[in-house]
Amino acid sequence: PTALSQLQKMIADMQSLGLSISNSYSGYRSYQYQSSLYQNYVNSYGQASADTFSARPGYSEHQTGLAFDLIQPNGALLESPNEAQWIAHKYGFIVRYQSGKESITGYMAEPWHVRYIGNEAVNIYQSGLTLEEYLHVEGGDY
Ligand code: DAL
Ligand code: ZN
Repeated sequence: PTALSQLQKMIADMQSLGLSISNSYSGYRSYQYQSSLYQNYVNSYGQASADTFSARPGYSEHQTGLAFDLIQPNGALLESPNEAQWIAHKYGFIVRYQSGKESITGYMAEPWHVRYIGNEAVNIYQSGLTLEEYLHVEGGDY
């Protein structure tokens, strides 16, 4: 609930600043939903490719309810690099998958995917580190 209300606040403020952000977002996903999403990507692109942009079921931050994909008014995912980053930390979010960090996070850059952290989001943002680096945990592979 905290993450969601912070997201709603952030979206409203981004809209007042004139940014093209929809009220819609992709947030919580069940295991079953992530499973079918991932399987569809594997069927279309093969597992090696799917693994670069879709989490396997049981591994997606969306299953925690703490991650949200920001969407533009035309329905497309927010594509512009850094559009969310400068503001997200003010609401306790980090843009989780950055370009140049693919081998650490395990995923291609996703300028639309924000993950709720809370107060420490500011420190993470200012450090320039991924969450894996910040927490000293391994990532990037299964
Ligand atoms: N697209 C991100 C990595 C997910 O599937 O959770
Ligand atoms: Zn996402």
